Amino acid sequence: MDYVRLFAPATVANVSCGFDSMGFAIDNLGDEMSFRKTTNQGVIIKEITGAKGLSLDPTKNAAGVVALAMLKKHPVAFGIEITMHKGFSPGSGLGSSAASSGGTAFGVNELLGKPFSTLELTKFAMLGEEAACGTQIADNVAAAVFGGFVLIRSYDPLDVVRLPVPEKLRLVAIHPQIEVKTKDAREVLPKEVPLKTAVTQWANVGGLVSGLFTNDYTLISNSLTDVIVEPARKHLIPHFDQVKSEAIKGGALGAGISGSGPTIFALCEGDDIAQNVHQIIENTYKDKGINYHIVISKINTEGVKILEQK
Ligand code: HSE
Repeated sequence: MDYVRLFAPATVANVSCGFDSMGFAIDNLGDEMSFRKTTNQGVIIKEITGAKGLSLDPTKNAAGVVALAMLKKHPVAFGIEITMHKGFSPGSGLGSSAASSGGTAFGVNELLGKPFSTLELTKFAMLGEEAACGTQIADNVAAAVFGGFVLIRSYDPLDVVRLPVPEKLRLVAIHPQIEVKTKDAREVLPKEVPLKTAVTQWANVGGLVSGLFTNDYTLISNSLTDVIVEPARKHLIPHFDQVKSEAIKGGALGAGISGSGPTIFALCEGDDIAQNVHQIIENTYKDKGINYHIVISKINTEGVKILEQK
């Protein structure tokens, strides 16, 4: 194979209670990327469209960092040229750098003849996260690469557990068009957590995982609670409390901050409720004087998808 074009999904990390340890992939939002073998060795980022301000220097761009690390580990006689069309903005909380990093890990692996496992691709993609925000976070990249819901059971060694996706689960997400940098959103987090608070949090993670396995929407709903990260971050997101409470009143199973924000996500059971919640969220935000973009989507269960190969 000399060329591959693919779709790399946007993702929702944390899913309320699972800070840095849970995430899921979005079906109809993501980046389109292509990878082509070149005669000269090395990595070229030829073009990035759909977003401003991203470096074409492969040592500074998340995708470039991932591709260079893979070629270092698996040297070959050819080089790789990358083009990216960003389907959503960096700094949205929807895993923009993770889509670029996960998509690159997948695409480069295809051109190399698939020497790496999906878990290894996740580890490479984490280097892109580090380049983008300073920390090797796995929740967005694992969700992008594996698809569906994932649990990062351990970071060292990395252990990613795939979780089932209940059939009727739908996402509604509003991205207020302001940027929250992950690095900044991590700086406001508490360094220590009281034991009682931690108990609440890990009990909810257990509840959410169990709810996903048993298609128990009530349990999923009851577990979509974050008593640690959301209280520390929500002031960064205009009208967060109002959107969350209106979405839940409108029938959402729960709502919270997508990754490090500013996107607010809501999970819903079925299309009708999702449409209703979409409308309610739109009504809540439309007179606030902040531009926004709303997505309604199924959960992506495949991860990165190949669109074309030659
Ligand atoms: N789990 C991460 C965070 C996701 O919330 O900071 C952001 O990439």
